[in-house]
Amino acid sequence: MTWLDLLLAVALALALSGMAAARRSSAVRSLTRVARRLTDGDLSVRARLPGHDQLAELGRALDRLAGGLETTLGELRAERDLQKRILEAMHEGVVVVDREGRIVLVNPALRAMLLLGADAVGKLLLETVRHAQLHTLLDQASEGFDDRPVEIELPGLKPRRVLVQASPLSGDEEGLLLVFVDVTELRRLESLRRDFVANASHELRTPIAAVCSATETLRSGAMDEPEAAVRFLDIIERNAQRLQSLVEDMLELSKLESNEFKVKRERVELERVVPIVLALFRERAEKKGVRLAAELPAALPAVEGDPRALEHILSNLVDNAIKYCPRGSRILVSASENDGRVRLVVSDTGPGIAPEHLPRVFERFYRVDAGRSREVGGTGLGLSIVKHMVEAMRGKVSVDSTVGKGSTFIISLHRAASVEAAE
Ligand SMILES: Nc1ncnc2c1ncn2[C@@H]1O[C@H](COP(=O)(O)OP(=O)(O)OP(=O)(O)O)[C@@H](O)[C@H]1O
Ligand SMILES: [Mg+2]
Repeated sequence: MTWLDLLLAVALALALSGMAAARRSSAVRSLTRVARRLTDGDLSVRARLPGHDQLAELGRALDRLAGGLETTLGELRAERDLQKRILEAMHEGVVVVDREGRIVLVNPALRAMLLLGADAVGKLLLETVRHAQLHTLLDQASEGFDDRPVEIELPGLKPRRVLVQASPLSGDEEGLLLVFVDVTELRRLESLRRDFVANASHELRTPIAAVCSATETLRSGAMDEPEAAVRFLDIIERNAQRLQSLVEDMLELSKLESNEFKVKRERVELERVVPIVLALFRERAEKKGVRLAAELPAALPAVEGDPRALEHILSNLVDNAIKYCPRGSRILVSASENDGRVRLVVSDTGPGIAPEHLPRVFERFYRVDAGRSREVGGTGLGLSIVKHMVEAMRGKVSVDSTVGKGSTFIISLHRAASVEAAE
């Protein structure tokens, strides 16, 4: 080997080691860049170092770590989003408070229920919502006394009744989970049911008592006096009929409310229904001295509905008009068409209904003058049956009245043509 060969070999070795050093330092730079971006939260970054040396191995390990983190974080994000969507969709209000009673998490339903602002998180729940019962509940729950739900009343423009259940949260972050369920509607329905039972029993009791006392009087001697006997038999008959109609009305109403009553949706010509109903009442109207008439326009479109239900509705309204109007009054059944709707109107020139009673006449058992109504055989169920039936036919019922001038009941129904278009 000559000196020249030696020199060339050294130069080659130096060049090769220089290149290797440059490759190593570029790999280190690339690894550092990847590590920095990972620390900044960009988990999509990869080193992808070529080769099989130790640095390339390290690069691949770093890439695997980034890949693993990206998958795990994605799963955690999806889980967190799902939980957030569940909390947002819940009708129940949910709030989590820490050991000091500060709000950690609150869902939109509870924000709306307690009228909490957007900045509620981090504040003390009891300072944000000043409520004595809630205060006691939180105290007891944090001391682990009681975990039974407590019903509280939330005041405000629309007061609400809310059932609150507090459960302790264990783990690193101790606190309380409070779930609020709005039971206002439930309590309203319960009270309606209680009122219904009370009213129904009261209504049934009156005629039953009359029948009982009449039979007792008959037994204790009136039976032997023909005139008195007939009078008491009349009382029994009248009250038995009243009981029968009361029970029928209650059954009808219960069928309507349980949706067991299926109304048909067929074409009904009012020109056919109105005369049938009027004929039923003509004699009674004449006897009472009230004028009963109908005025239907020549080309009245057919309505969507159930002919039997429509007869029932109209009968109830005409029956009321005859019952509550004095001798000499006029009752008119008319109809008109407007905007795809047909209005069937029963108006009278009777005593009218005072404004404070108007919104309530469609309630079950509601009577303007209970004594007078009962005298004429009313139970206060007629108009609530009318309302249910009209609504079952997708219609609307309303009343307009002026005391001393008369009342107008308006039934608004769909034109039959719109049924065909909808089907
Ligand atoms: N045309 C009317 N004029 C004056 N008051 C009326 C008229 N229609 C109804 N009312 C009042 O509205 C109340 C409720 O009527 P509704 O038909 O529901 O009950 P009712 O006639 O007393 O009993 P029912 O119809 O069950 O026999 C009546 O008690 C009566 O006071
Ligand atoms: Mg009635």
